[in-house]
Amino acid sequence: MGQRKRVFDLLRTINVASCQCPAHGYRGNIQVSNATPLKDYAFEIKCSTVRYGLGVTREVGQDLVNMSANNVCVMTDPNVVKLSPVKTTLDSLTKNGVNYKVYDKVRVEPTDTSFKEAIAFAKENNFDSFVAVGGGSVMDTCKAANLYLSEPKADFLDYVNAPVGKGKPVEVNLKPMIAIPTTSGTGSETTGVSIFDYESIHAKTGISHGALRPVLAMIDPLHTLTMPEKVSNYSGFDIFCHALESFTAIPYTDRGPAPSNPALRPTYQGSNPISDVWARFCLQTLQKYFARSVYQPDDLEARSCMHLAATMAGVGIGNAGVHLCHGLAYPIAGNVKSFIPKDYGSEPIIPHGLSVVMTAPAVFRFTAPSDPDKHLEAAGILGADVSNVKQADAGAVLADTILKYMETMKIENGLQSLGYSGGDIPELVKGALPQKRLLSLTPLSQSEDDLSKLLEDSLTIY
Ligand SMILES: NC(=O)c1ccc[n+]([C@@H]2O[C@H](COP(=O)([O-])OP(=O)(O)OC[C@H]3O[C@@H](n4cnc5c(N)ncnc54)[C@H](O)[C@@H]3O)[C@@H](O)[C@H]2O)c1
Ligand SMILES: [Fe+2]
Repeated sequence: MGQRKRVFDLLRTINVASCQCPAHGYRGNIQVSNATPLKDYAFEIKCSTVRYGLGVTREVGQDLVNMSANNVCVMTDPNVVKLSPVKTTLDSLTKNGVNYKVYDKVRVEPTDTSFKEAIAFAKENNFDSFVAVGGGSVMDTCKAANLYLSEPKADFLDYVNAPVGKGKPVEVNLKPMIAIPTTSGTGSETTGVSIFDYESIHAKTGISHGALRPVLAMIDPLHTLTMPEKVSNYSGFDIFCHALESFTAIPYTDRGPAPSNPALRPTYQGSNPISDVWARFCLQTLQKYFARSVYQPDDLEARSCMHLAATMAGVGIGNAGVHLCHGLAYPIAGNVKSFIPKDYGSEPIIPHGLSVVMTAPAVFRFTAPSDPDKHLEAAGILGADVSNVKQADAGAVLADTILKYMETMKIENGLQSLGYSGGDIPELVKGALPQKRLLSLTPLSQSEDDLSKLLEDSLTIY
C-alpha cells in the first residue's frame, strides 16, 4: 500500500514539475486509479462540421443530395421566411431536385407549446432530414422536432433537463440536421442544446445532448445584412456573455465526479484550454467589431466577423458551458410582463441576449475572486487598461468594462426598465434555482441570498 502511494506521489511530482503544456498548466493532474475520481480529469471538444463563406448557402441543396435526403423539413419563423436566407435555401433545394416542406411558425423565444406544434408537424410528415434557417429560436425548435420525430413514443419531459424533466440520455439516431444561422449570437448551430420557455414554471429550461447537434453549420455572413439594429445588438451580447461565462466557468478539473463511462461526461464540462481559445478570439472580435456591426449595418467586414465569433463562442459554450448570467436570465425572460422590444415583433418578450447581459456587471463582480487574473485578462482584451490594477479590483474593472459596452449599445438601465421591481426578486430566484446545470458551473458556490443580491444589484445598473 505504502509502495502504491509512493508511486502516485512520484507521478504527481513529475506531472507538476516537468510538464509545461497548457493543459497541465491548467491545473491538469494525473488520475491513476480505476475508481471513479471525485473530480474530472478529462475534457472533450465536440462540434458540428462548420462551413463558413459568403454565399455558401447556395450549396445546401447539393449537401442534401449527398445525404440522400428527399423529404426535407425547412424550418424558419414568420419573419425570416420572407427574407433572402430562406429564398436562397429553397432555390438551392429546387435546383437540386430535393423535395421539401416549409414550417414557418416557429415562435421567437420558443415555449413548450410552440415546440410541441413543431414536433406535431414533423411527425405528420415523417421527414428524413431538417434544415433550420433562422436564429436560435428556429434552430432550437428544429432540434426538438428532430428528436421527438426520431423517438416518437417519448414523453416530452423525458429528455428535458433535470430537475424539470427526466434528463434521459438520447439513445436513438436523429435525422441529419443542417443549421443556417441568420443572427450572430446563440451559436446553436454547433451545440447539442435546445432551449425553451417552460410556461408552467415561468423560466427557461432545455434539452441538452450531443445527439441534437446539427451535422453541418453553414455560416453565411450575407444573412446578417438584414438583421435590424436591436437584433444585432442583443444577439451580440449573447456572444459577449457566452465568451465571458465559458472563459470564467469552473475549470473542468474542479467539476466532478468524473463520469463512470465517458459517454456520460456532461455537455457542459467547465472551462478548458481549448474553449479558452474560442473565448479569447470572441472577446477580441467583440472589441474590434461589436459597435461597428450594430451601428453600421452595411459593414460586411464587421458583420462577417461577428457571425464567425458567434459560431466560435458556440463551440466554446457547447463544451465548456455558461453559468450565472444565463442561469439568472432564464427566469428574467420567463417572467416577462409588458416589455416589447423594438425589432422583435409585437408580443412582450425579453430577448435572450438582453436577459443575459442585464446581470453581467453584478455577476462578474461576484465571480472575480475565483480567478482575478482571468477576469482581468478578459477586461484587458475588451479594451480596459489593466496594467496597474490590483487583483482585489479585478471584478470592479471587468464590471466597468462591461458597463461601457452596455452604454455604447444603449442597453436599458437594469431590470427595472424591463418592468421588474424588488418585489419580483423572490420569484426570479425561485426560477433560477432549478438551473442546477448552470449554477454548478459558476466558479464560486452561491446561496439563495447571493442570487437575490445579484438581482438587486441589477435593478438599476448605470
Ligand atoms: N441552443 C443554444 O445553444 C442557445 C444558446 C443561446 C441562446 N439560445 C436561445 O436562442 C433564442 C434566441 O435566438 P436569437 O437571439 O438568435 O434570436 P431569434 O431567433 O429569437 O430571432 C430574433 C428576431 O430576429 C429576427 N431575425 C432573425 N434573423 C434575422 C435576419 N437575418 N434579418 C432580420 N431579422 C432576423 C427573427 O425573426 C426574430 O424576430 C432564445 O430562445 C435563446 O434561449 C440557444
Ligand atoms: Fe446564450
